[in-house]
Amino acid sequence: MEPGPHGVLAAIGGTPLVPLTRLLPDAPFRVFAKLESANPGGSIKDRTAFAMLSAAIESGTVVPGRSTVVESSSGNLGIGLAQACRYFDVRFVCVVDPRTNAQNVAIMRALGAEVHMVTERDAETGEYLPVRIRRVRELATTLPDAYCPNQYANPLNPFAHRTTMREIVDALGAAPDYLLCTISSCGTLRGCAEYAKDHDLPVRIVAVDAECSAIFHEPVGRRLIPGHGAAMPPALLRPGLADEVIHVSDLDCVVGCRRLAAREAILAGGSSGALVSALHRLRDRIPAGATCALVLADTGTRYLDTIYDDAWVTALFGDVTELWDDTLETAAC
Ligand SMILES: Cc1ncc(COP(=O)(O)O)c(C=O)c1O
Repeated sequence: MEPGPHGVLAAIGGTPLVPLTRLLPDAPFRVFAKLESANPGGSIKDRTAFAMLSAAIESGTVVPGRSTVVESSSGNLGIGLAQACRYFDVRFVCVVDPRTNAQNVAIMRALGAEVHMVTERDAETGEYLPVRIRRVRELATTLPDAYCPNQYANPLNPFAHRTTMREIVDALGAAPDYLLCTISSCGTLRGCAEYAKDHDLPVRIVAVDAECSAIFHEPVGRRLIPGHGAAMPPALLRPGLADEVIHVSDLDCVVGCRRLAAREAILAGGSSGALVSALHRLRDRIPAGATCALVLADTGTRYLDTIYDDAWVTALFGDVTELWDDTLETAAC
């Protein structure tokens, strides 16, 4: 295989960093958003998928036309791998659970992936993730020439996100004072943090996790919004990667997403809303003149029947429109 990305995969990375001037118009600091939805598969996970698959092909572990890649994903990595596997003519089996939305499954299938849905929760934790991981192991041993990239432990996952941080620094011409990113497998956080450390960048890294995630503390319930958060601490997590951790609720994600859409015309996914709410919480501590960068992981088009669906939001949280509605906020002033 020739080195470097090919065809559509060459469009991975180099995503835009846009200034957000309307989100917090009176803030004395600058905010920028890295739009990872501009990757061809629509999310941050294209970087991870390409890095893991191309290395496996280069090393001969995966042979196009013969091998099968098996992976567990709640959606975005599955789409990234479906895209990369289709491109390289590698069979792909993705193990998902009922929290994966139907659109993500349809996208993976349209790209030629075979989707295995686990339906039962783990008896001990009540979570789907352990069941998904067990299913992947079974498939990896029963399918011929199977390879599991295992995003939760593969060092190429964080390695792929060093470029995310490098691109932010290049676009700004300097390191941001604050970097906010969400966490699940820890690829984004670790890749950005390690790049910053290796280059002595004076950036404060804020990891944003779901309230009900088990990454940094005992989980306190079930998460509704997929993407950030995890049912167990990821193997890639290392102490000291984040200078600070902020936990946000599902409602915070909805409010953050709706604010981003209303004020900046950016339709982003649930974890991006988590970052917006975390930024609101941090705002009084961010010094004047500082620069903040938010890594917006995916597109909101995959959340149209949840976060951007009024009936879904009202059924779960009641009438919460005033939490993001600009008109109401102005009227109240
Ligand atoms: C929408 C979304 N946000 C955030 C994350 C967390 O990224 P990471 O796995 O790099 O920690 C993911 C991971 O799949 C995701 O899909």
